[in-house]
Amino acid sequence: RHILLINGPNLNLLGTREPATYGSTTLADVESAAQEQATALSAKLSTFQSNHEGAIVDRIQAARGDVDAIIINAGAYTHTSVAIRDALLGVEIPFVELHVSNVHAREEFRRHSYLCDKAAAVICGMGVYGYTAALEFVVKHLKIKAR
Ligand code: DQA
Repeated sequence: RHILLINGPNLNLLGTREPATYGSTTLADVESAAQEQATALSAKLSTFQSNHEGAIVDRIQAARGDVDAIIINAGAYTHTSVAIRDALLGVEIPFVELHVSNVHAREEFRRHSYLCDKAAAVICGMGVYGYTAALEFVVKHLKIKAR
């Protein structure tokens, strides 16, 4: 199984940005822990981070026919991007929407997601453990289509 982990805008600052909300673990820590976990689960993991909406769309498009499931923390684009939603639907790859913080306990505008109604699962409020939970879920429990 080939899993793609996408982190969107400002998640390159994970661990240093608003630590009271997002914790002190860096994105590099998250990605290396996820690589180890994937190896232990006999899965292949690719990771991608971008602050640019179009670059995220391009990466999702490139995943078609190559990736079995996507885990995406789209950051603020979750709340704004029809383009990322359309890309995910266009490639027909099942995905998990993830947020480190509990978006429902914050500003009202974070409660709306352009992705959640199409996601296989939504994880929020677990801190960076959400990445561990998402990877375990997609490898062990998600029904993945033949490609
Ligand atoms: C986030 C929540 C979003 O509302 C915010 O814009 C982010 C991070 C999270 O991981 O909690 O950048 O996706």
